[in-house]
Amino acid sequence: MKLLYISISGNTRSFVERLAALSEEQHEQDPSLPIFEVKEISENSPFELEEEAFVTFVPTYLEGGNGVDNGDTEILTEVMREYLEYEDNYKNCLGVIGSGNKNFNYQYCLTAKQYSEAFDFPLLADFELRGNDADLKRIYDVLKDLPAN
Ligand SMILES: Cc1cc2nc3c(=O)[nH]c(=O)nc-3n(C[C@H](O)[C@H](O)[C@H](O)COP(=O)(O)O)c2cc1C
Repeated sequence: MKLLYISISGNTRSFVERLAALSEEQHEQDPSLPIFEVKEISENSPFELEEEAFVTFVPTYLEGGNGVDNGDTEILTEVMREYLEYEDNYKNCLGVIGSGNKNFNYQYCLTAKQYSEAFDFPLLADFELRGNDADLKRIYDVLKDLPAN
């Protein structure tokens, strides 16, 4: 299964790469388990039709405010939204995993929540910053059981 992600400062990239490495280790022990393939979306990415099911990872960058009655405008990650809109790619997205920083309170992982609402796919999980080993295991367990595998 493919994991599509965007990462501005490297935290999400680090997390999905560790997740892919974990999936390979688990697959070696039990070949019935899926291998995750990662694909980074950035300003320079060619837009492509995603023909198979995938999961989206998006960190949160908002334009200030409290995320409730102001400051809910996505910045820096919009290319992921455009990629999901392209050729209706979002229809093959099984869900979104958000990342952020809990210091942002109401705005924590708000972009992933907005994607879930706008595209009508589930918010599967969230993690802070680079994620720890417990986050890795928890999110691996969510992904390995998805129907795409
Ligand atoms: C300018 C800026 C704005 C941010 N805004 C939010 C926010 O509104 N909510 C949130 O949960 N995290 C926010 N963060 C934290 C990032 O989402 C967090 O550092 C994340 O791990 C970055 O992922 P990346 O390194 O893959 O880009 C913000 C970080 C920066 C630098």
